[in-house]
Amino acid sequence: MSPTNGSSNGAHPWICLGGSVVTGPRPEGAKAVCIAGGAGFIGSHLGKRLKSEGWYVVAADWKTNEFMAAKEFCDVFAHCDLRRLENCAAVSKGCEQVYNMAADMGGMGFIESNQSVLMFNNTMISSNMLEASRHNKVARYLYASTACVYNETKQMDTQDVALKESDAWPAQPQDTYGLEKLYHEEMCIAYGKDFPIATRMARFHNVYGPRGTWKGGREKAPAAFCRKALASTVDFEMWGDGEQTRSFMFIEDCVEGCLRIMNGECDKPLNLGTEEMISMNEFGKLAMSLAGKDLPIRHIPGPQGVRGRNSDNTMIRAELGWEPLISIRDGMTRTIAWIKEQMEKDGGDAGGYSQSHVVVQTVDSLELLTN
Ligand SMILES: NC(=O)c1ccc[n+]([C@@H]2O[C@H](COP(=O)([O-])OP(=O)(O)OC[C@H]3O[C@@H](n4cnc5c(N)ncnc54)[C@H](O)[C@@H]3O)[C@@H](O)[C@H]2O)c1
Repeated sequence: MSPTNGSSNGAHPWICLGGSVVTGPRPEGAKAVCIAGGAGFIGSHLGKRLKSEGWYVVAADWKTNEFMAAKEFCDVFAHCDLRRLENCAAVSKGCEQVYNMAADMGGMGFIESNQSVLMFNNTMISSNMLEASRHNKVARYLYASTACVYNETKQMDTQDVALKESDAWPAQPQDTYGLEKLYHEEMCIAYGKDFPIATRMARFHNVYGPRGTWKGGREKAPAAFCRKALASTVDFEMWGDGEQTRSFMFIEDCVEGCLRIMNGECDKPLNLGTEEMISMNEFGKLAMSLAGKDLPIRHIPGPQGVRGRNSDNTMIRAELGWEPLISIRDGMTRTIAWIKEQMEKDGGDAGGYSQSHVVVQTVDSLELLTN
């Protein structure tokens, strides 16, 4: 990989952002696709798949990927801040399709304690990426939305909480993270009506798998549970009473679903998740059984999100004739094997691994933009 000014090797007609690298030449006739947030968990898996299908992948992110070399998931890596319109315009130039996977986010503990910063950062990214794509005459645009858009009054129970797409309105998401996503779904719908850009929206339900954040405070429940199951020796620590329910989607299903939604004809938001709902107590026991353990669960106070949530896949089945079906047992078996390897490489202390921490809010990212 060598640093380049983007257009210097004629590979991709974009302007220099600084810190960009071209990892491979553009094959004759290959169509370009931009993945905003391309070095993230979902973005990098998606990039790998699109690259393998012959796309020329431009990944844009303000961070590098800890677990994959750039050449594995993209042909061009643009190291840039996507809150800026000029950067969004530069990276989407000449691209046929744009997947917007960029967001400042993390697990429940992170989202609940960083509301204003996330709202500002994500509003900027989502608005600028969509407008830049319109400006650059991108044909298809997929927005990564979330099950956090749903009205919290529909998620007060642990059972019967399968959410249909229509349950998002009237709006009352639990967090500003979900509210921003809901607003930007509407912006995508309006752009799709007003301009010649086919906009698509996928409401992801808890995506997990190898090569995702597994420690540090931004990790989500599946990775945290694998880590704790492997490290704990006396008991298994869990936020809340463990009765709260969720469904979880393995990364391969998520990538497959993104491709199908992007290239399909449904211009309304679609759930992308499994209908296999599990309580956190059952989920903790599953993680422990995969680690060969059966420890008591110790419930402690902590952020829990809504009481219960599941995906209702009636609409995606009708629209696409497909739905995510990888079981939680299969997905977790593959995830825990990868986390075990990371823990062995990392060599951290088991005491730290067996707990989760809430990351407090800082305004560093806001100051970076203004300065
Ligand atoms: N993983 C899930 O369970 C889940 C669930 C619902 C929705 N989503 C959505 O899916 C998308 C991808 O999620 P993920 O799990 O891969 O998260 P992730 O944090 O791994 O990926 C997001 C990427 O966006 C990048 N980013 C953030 N702010 C940026 C900025 N200003 N400029 C450039 N890059 C920036 C991050 O560095 C990161 O690499 C996000 O939009 C997220 O909100 C994820």
